[in-house]
Amino acid sequence: MVIPKHVAFVMDGNGRWAQAQGLPRSAGHKAGYEHIPTVLEICFDLDIQVVSGYVWSTENWNRPKAEVDFIVRSLEKNLSRFVGELHQRGVRFVHSGTHDRLPTKIVELLKNGASLTKDNQSGVFNLCFNYGGRTEIVEAVQRILAADVQPNELSEELLGEYLWTHSLPDVDLVVRTGGDKRLSNFLLWQTAHACLYIADSYWPAISRQEIEFAVSYYNEVMFGRSEKQV
Ligand code: IPE
Ligand code: MG
Repeated sequence: MVIPKHVAFVMDGNGRWAQAQGLPRSAGHKAGYEHIPTVLEICFDLDIQVVSGYVWSTENWNRPKAEVDFIVRSLEKNLSRFVGELHQRGVRFVHSGTHDRLPTKIVELLKNGASLTKDNQSGVFNLCFNYGGRTEIVEAVQRILAADVQPNELSEELLGEYLWTHSLPDVDLVVRTGGDKRLSNFLLWQTAHACLYIADSYWPAISRQEIEFAVSYYNEVMFGRSEKQV
């Protein structure tokens, strides 16, 4: 069994998970946040080295204000403790996303988390918050132009160094929960050669068994077909 180095989750279905139990959507978001450490534990136990989690997209600001406030406030309230727990486990914390529209306090927490854990070696968690794949590429190009990089110096490798994920390997496996077959502007550059697995479970309910199944699906798709050329 080949273990993917980098697994990226589209954490979808919090609202439906809550609604299915007669709870408000906010209860789904709370359960969704609380499920992140469990999934990380499963992934690191399976020897996956890098886990990305798409918690909040640049498009999600269009949601009702109460829902936006709940999600942003929850992050603000829990991020230090969450990063502290990652640090204790030796996990490096990375943020991918734009600082635009984020409260200063959150920007500080994200930066502090990354700098506190920068030398950790036992896995990486890449929090995609206020993330958009197109925005990431646009911001990378802005920095490339500002650095006066000449056209003939630009390569795929160099562009990758200007992305928010510059310190991470490409994504091997995308797992989207909630059943929708959509990419939602997620890690567009980094998933160029990734395998896509759609899980029917909602994010707060994805289990070890389903993550293991996604890894075996990855093996079948990427390595299992003898006629495969590329
Ligand atoms: C994903 O769950 C979490 C966020 C985007 C914040 P949703 O809130 O999209 O839940 P559903 O898809 O409506 O069930
Ligand atoms: Mg959704």
